[in-house]
Amino acid sequence: MSIYRIEKDQRIGDEAMDLLLLADPSEEMIQSYVTGSTVFQLRVGNELAGIAVCKEMTADSLEIKNIAVGEKHQKKGYGRALLEACIEYGKQSPYMYLSIATGNSSKHQIALYESCGFLIHHIEKDYFIKHYPEPIYENGIQCCDKVVLRRHI
Ligand code: COA
Repeated sequence: MSIYRIEKDQRIGDEAMDLLLLADPSEEMIQSYVTGSTVFQLRVGNELAGIAVCKEMTADSLEIKNIAVGEKHQKKGYGRALLEACIEYGKQSPYMYLSIATGNSSKHQIALYESCGFLIHHIEKDYFIKHYPEPIYENGIQCCDKVVLRRHI
């Protein structure tokens, strides 16, 4: 397994887009934040197994806008390895904070992010009810609120 960093303004290929769609259903949104972002690609042999997208949000903060590992490669530590690559990159940058957002129902993701040093920073109530046309359920829980986690880098 190797992780490669791809610098800003590279076009995203179909293989990468398929992975990014696992975490974000909107191709249009993905295209909008990939532009100008730093992308980490995790490869197993010749295959793209995982991806993470880091974008500058303010003068002192970066956000992981998307992180995804292909279904057959999940639960092998690759998601954690991508998060660690983003954290390491953040530590070598001028930014002070790295954030990541998810839904209140994504309990495994929240646990993973907390175990990588992220703390819940704030919650945007009813975000997914207001911004998505259909109700979203995950792990038997309705996804209503956006949970924003943040760590110092
Ligand atoms: N069920 C139970 N535990 C899970 C889990 C799941 N679905 N997904 C991750 N975990 C736990 C693992 O047990 C592991 O814990 P440990 O290190 O204490 O053993 C930890 O989380 C890290 O797992 P890891 O193997 O590094 O994660 P991964 O490679 O499966 O990647 C995601 C995690 C979230 C990136 C991956 O599941 C994914 O791409 N999901 C779909 C897209 C998505 O939800 N992206 C995030 C949007 S906010």
